[in-house]
Amino acid sequence: CGIVGILGKQPVALQVVDALKRLEYRGYDSAGIATLEDGHLVRRRAEGKLRNLELKLSQAPLTGAIGIGHTRWATHGRPNETNAHPHATAKLAVVHNGIIENFRELKEELESKGVVFETQTDTEVVAQLVTDEIAQGKTPLEAVAATLPRLRGAFALAFLFEGETDQLVGARQGAPLAIGWGEGEMYLGSDALALAPFTDRVSYLEDGDWAVLSRSGAVIRDKDGHPVDRPVQTIPPGSFVASKGNYRHFMAKEIHEQPEVVGRTIAHYVDFASGTVVLPELPFSFKDLKRLSITACGTAYYAGLVAKYWFETLARLPVEIDVASEFRYREAPLDPGELAIVISQSGETADTLASLRYAKAQGQHILSVVNVPTSTIARDSAIVAPTLAGPEIGVASTKAFTCQLAVLLSLAIGAARARGHLDEAGEKRLVDALVGVPGLMTEALHGEAAVEGLAREVAKAKDVLYLGRGTSFPLALEGALKLKEISYIHAEGYAAGELKHGPIALIDEDLPVIVIAPCDAVFEKTVSNMQEVAARGGRILLITDRQGVAQSAMDTLGTLVMPDCDPVVAPLVYAVPVQLLAYHTAVFMGKDVDQPRNLAKSVTVE
Ligand code: G6P
Repeated sequence: CGIVGILGKQPVALQVVDALKRLEYRGYDSAGIATLEDGHLVRRRAEGKLRNLELKLSQAPLTGAIGIGHTRWATHGRPNETNAHPHATAKLAVVHNGIIENFRELKEELESKGVVFETQTDTEVVAQLVTDEIAQGKTPLEAVAATLPRLRGAFALAFLFEGETDQLVGARQGAPLAIGWGEGEMYLGSDALALAPFTDRVSYLEDGDWAVLSRSGAVIRDKDGHPVDRPVQTIPPGSFVASKGNYRHFMAKEIHEQPEVVGRTIAHYVDFASGTVVLPELPFSFKDLKRLSITACGTAYYAGLVAKYWFETLARLPVEIDVASEFRYREAPLDPGELAIVISQSGETADTLASLRYAKAQGQHILSVVNVPTSTIARDSAIVAPTLAGPEIGVASTKAFTCQLAVLLSLAIGAARARGHLDEAGEKRLVDALVGVPGLMTEALHGEAAVEGLAREVAKAKDVLYLGRGTSFPLALEGALKLKEISYIHAEGYAAGELKHGPIALIDEDLPVIVIAPCDAVFEKTVSNMQEVAARGGRILLITDRQGVAQSAMDTLGTLVMPDCDPVVAPLVYAVPVQLLAYHTAVFMGKDVDQPRNLAKSVTVE
């Protein structure tokens, strides 16, 4: 969910909506705003996308110069108007991101006192608790101070109080919240991106902090109530430029941007002249590591899975990889002084952040591969290896994925060198392959028309299977994820060799099988698996190179021919048709490509 608060000089409703638009990546199930109209709380809320809220505001405008707003990704309660934020009582309105874990017991306590709840949300408990404290004679600030320590979970909150026209309160416990500093105006926002139209001066609250804003500034307190200073950072201009340009969707633009942003990322990690990789300064040597752990969620997890192959084959460094939601709870024994890598586009994913903190508490070095340098994960990591993808707006991740791969391959090459598994010539060969990627991606993009044709076939399917071996296996998983995210077609990714152990039972003429198979060391094995599919009447869609076409000699539903490339960089190049196929299938089916149902770009709850 996304949070905004503005203390302005003029009516703020439109500014709040403007900021919420920039936070829609955090959810878009419903949206709402509250302002003080002549000192009195008034709300407008709407189910669905922000434009529904905008419509309501145009029919019934708000004029208050102070307001809070919210765009929601539902956790507790259906995404209807009743459950939309802000939640309010006669005394206050509150917007909330995250989960109040002990809301049931708090709700029971309040109900036993006779409080009647209007919604199914955990947020309303916060509103009612603070109201209850005010009813007992506390001031709004005292009431917030008394309530915050009672809330368990990871959350961020912003409060607006009846009659208090120069006061907003924000609190952060595990979910991000930033303060924006204007001239006689002050702001709260889930991130600096939301506040970018108003100010480039931002302070990030730390966990446990809560802040009281007035038009002349902010007083920030830590969890013990002590006043603290949080530095004001200036966000560099141009950090958040995001427009669709000539493309129909952000996702299309982001797929097509890949040669440029992957090239930019590679340039950051490679010294072209010497043909070597240049890594960030490390407080350890790869040579001394016994193993490394990688954690991430969603697409970033699949980037990590590709990297496992690279670290293990190139650098002979054992890698343990887990989805962050499992890693954080399975009490993995971690040795101090070893390395934990976390991967995240947004840098705000709650599970990934928790994994990072778990590894840190075990005395591990933390290296994060992140796309948002101002994010919580970046700020919590001793070593940041940035992806230079620029803002990614489409909910389905594309360019962030390939930039993550570029960074991870650079790290694996650096590790291989440090561990003595790569001589100068070997490193140069790998670096040359990496440097060639943007050109190969451009070539792969030229095949878009062929992909579009195949997408029409895929769009007819109810289920789709993706197969791959080696680094093409994680890519098969990513392909299936992309397709289900935006087209809602059920898809599964499998290691090609695993086909015979179960999924082969699904094969019939209605199930397209997408095989990702560059002509590498395991190609022949994959061809055998394709034969097994063909023998059972399955329809194959093959993504390979020219040599692969010649060697497989298969009858397929369609074949996409990729440019020849070094197998080590194939995941970066083959990602392009995999993304395009999901994209065109969804477009052909008329789906909302950039904002698919039920998803959010950045998930700040566990
Ligand atoms: C959400 C997004 C996915 C993304 C995942 C991890 O589920 O919808 O596209 O891969 O979060 O996000 P992160 O920002 O940590 O990479």
